[in-house]
Amino acid sequence: MKAASFLFVVVILLWTSIKGISCMNISSSSKAAQDYAEFLLANGVALTPPMGWNSWNHFQCNIDERTIKSTADALVSTGLAALGYKYVNIDDCWAEESRDWKGNLKAKSSTFPSGIKALADYVQARGLKLGIYSDAGYRTCSNKMPGSLGHEEQDARTFAEWGVDYLKYDNCYNDGSRPRDRYARMSYALRKAGRPILYSLCEWGEEDPAKWAGLYGNAWRTTGDIKDTWESVISIADQNNIWGRYAGPGRWNDPDMLEVGNGGMTIEEYRSHFSIWALMKAPLLIGCDVRSASGQTLNILKNKEVIDVNQDSMGVQGRKIRSKAGLEVWAGPLSRKRVAIVLWNRSGSRAAISVGWRELGLSPHNPVIVRDLWTHSFLSKNKRYGVTAFVAPHACKMYLLTPP
Ligand code: GLA
Repeated sequence: MKAASFLFVVVILLWTSIKGISCMNISSSSKAAQDYAEFLLANGVALTPPMGWNSWNHFQCNIDERTIKSTADALVSTGLAALGYKYVNIDDCWAEESRDWKGNLKAKSSTFPSGIKALADYVQARGLKLGIYSDAGYRTCSNKMPGSLGHEEQDARTFAEWGVDYLKYDNCYNDGSRPRDRYARMSYALRKAGRPILYSLCEWGEEDPAKWAGLYGNAWRTTGDIKDTWESVISIADQNNIWGRYAGPGRWNDPDMLEVGNGGMTIEEYRSHFSIWALMKAPLLIGCDVRSASGQTLNILKNKEVIDVNQDSMGVQGRKIRSKAGLEVWAGPLSRKRVAIVLWNRSGSRAAISVGWRELGLSPHNPVIVRDLWTHSFLSKNKRYGVTAFVAPHACKMYLLTPP
């Protein structure tokens, strides 16, 4: 009898503790699922990497509404807009030095006399979208205008009222608190403001944002500022590469804006820069003056086959799979069992670079169609085992592999 009641107690205890554990598991995983679902529900933008233009790399603080409007016109007349370059993003220096008497941000009257709402109307009437810039600190990086720290809800409301579609949120002059907390606050404020605004976090990779920023925003910078140099491009590509697994539809690693067309690199270097950014599913934000872009610059930016790799619906970031003495193989899977590859020669002399299908996870015996995305021609419609290319210094070959 004693033994029977002891057994009963043990069974009851076991049952309640198992129940407790399973409840805990369910509640923590469903909380994560709920966080994620809530975020997507409220925003739902950037299902492919954002494309457009940003004023900073070329103009820095020398911007005004005429420049922004004529750039929007040029995006349309060059055909860039039709290829997907939709966001017209104003970076730093667009606002007055201080807030107005109600604490609102105000467009600088000497350079943006018509205000941001009028600018949003102008670009949206042309089928484009308007982006703006603020900072998770007391001042923006130029120190020429206020940041949004402590004014998150008020500023998010202002941006929504103006019809802004994109917010780049920088990290200067902050209060020393964790980026994650400050960036989350603006995310909640944007959600509350109710307009789907693409939220791009710019904390320069300081607190490993790939690990958390996907919950709060649509893109996050993984590095410091890009420069219009070859050294900068290769270093930033490598820093961004390691976070590949965290990217996906609605949430992208951002290795910073394009320098193509700004004059500091050769055409081959710009082609490599654009190819690798496209393969890494980076935001493609043009950083040159599109109103005076050369034919060669437009040839790079308007390569639809390379853009299509970037905008592929599967949204998997391509990565470096092999590197020796500056000869590199980068690759990434695409929808419909296709694979994009970039054979990149970072060395100072012309060299052969090979890749085998086996390294790419393809059967070496199954033939594939190989298309060269820069010459726009088929290398082969029936290629087994792999491919070898001779690549000029600092140049690359970009191929699309399609199963027949
Ligand atoms: C920081 C950002 C840049 C740019 C400038 C503007 O450096 O990383 O991309 O926005 O601020 O001042």
